[in-house]
Amino acid sequence: MKNRKMVMIPGPTPVTRSIQNAMGRETAAFADPSFVADFKGLLADLKQMWRTQGEVFVVAGTGTLAMEMAVANTLKAGDSVLVITHGFFGDRYIDICKRKGLDVDVLSSQWGQIVPVADIETALKQKPYKAVTVTHVDTSTGVRAPIEEIGKVVRKADDCMFIVDGVCSTSAHPEYVDEMNIDILFTGSQKAFGVSPGLLVLWAGPRAMERRKTLGTIADYYVDFDNWLPIMHDPAKYFATPAVNLVWALAEAVRLIKEEGLDERCQRHNKTGKAIQAALTSLGFTLLAEKPYRAATLSNVIYPDGIDDAEFRSIAMEEGLVVAGGLGDYKGKMFRMGHMGNIDAHDVVCAIAAVERTLYRVGYQFKPGTGVGTLMRELLS
Ligand SMILES: Cc1ncc(COP(=O)(O)O)c(C=O)c1O
Repeated sequence: MKNRKMVMIPGPTPVTRSIQNAMGRETAAFADPSFVADFKGLLADLKQMWRTQGEVFVVAGTGTLAMEMAVANTLKAGDSVLVITHGFFGDRYIDICKRKGLDVDVLSSQWGQIVPVADIETALKQKPYKAVTVTHVDTSTGVRAPIEEIGKVVRKADDCMFIVDGVCSTSAHPEYVDEMNIDILFTGSQKAFGVSPGLLVLWAGPRAMERRKTLGTIADYYVDFDNWLPIMHDPAKYFATPAVNLVWALAEAVRLIKEEGLDERCQRHNKTGKAIQAALTSLGFTLLAEKPYRAATLSNVIYPDGIDDAEFRSIAMEEGLVVAGGLGDYKGKMFRMGHMGNIDAHDVVCAIAAVERTLYRVGYQFKPGTGVGTLMRELLS
């Protein structure tokens, strides 16, 4: 019998049955009172759970559109922005900001490491930046930025927005918008929320909403806060058709998060991430991200000598485990395994067991059970 395929790439993540059911409902009119009530409830939960006195936007689109939305509503051509980058997705912001005609300065780390917070502080003292962007977890490297510390130094700068890309972290790593001095936080539905791709969620704190007011009419239409705000306050109104079934799916995802507890969910990710990473290390893999800055949402795993990436990933697929390849210089040298969202202990044990079966089939010398044993010890500790 063929193995069931477990999609363990860093997004889209497995979509659990109750979320699938929400997506499979008969589509309602966007002004249907029951849909409007569900959408309102979702928005209230998102604001309250991620703790902002500002606003939240749920809009059809992906994480990249949210990146554009953040910049379009807080910056105008000629403004200076400091992009902190720990990999491919941090770099994406350089491109986006340049196309918007911003004056872009970049602080980038070697892949696997972080930009020291002291360097960010120094840069902020040298030039008046209107915003700092940072990716909380860069999916290309598995590096988690110390956003709480960065938020403190950004807040000391005069009138500088702190924009955080939470696409690979939101609902798995703590992100409390106002308390962490975050002005804009955003994510996509397909990552730690465990919904299919297609929705962005963006929180804009009070300072970001104030900044928007200073910009007047902006060139961007679809992502303009001013166009969406009336709908976020009253979803019975129309600006552009909401993705009705995805909104229901996200509402179900948030219900599951409430049931688990957001803090408890972050703790679960922390424990599971560490256990998986210990298991992979015990099998002879090396993790790209340095230990103190390692994400809990995914593992970026460098092969031991002698393992061919294409062969490993195609055999892993036959064994029922779908993982992603490395990016940039790590293409062919690394695989990336997502472990975020609605995955449970069964999934985690099966994933490491599939890695072991794959290693056995590629002729790698190891003691079967090493990874699973390490994983179990870590999970039970
Ligand atoms: C950290 C990060 N930011 C932004 C994006 C872009 O999101 P999307 O592919 O949903 O446009 C991704 C996608 O994987 C990501 O991992």
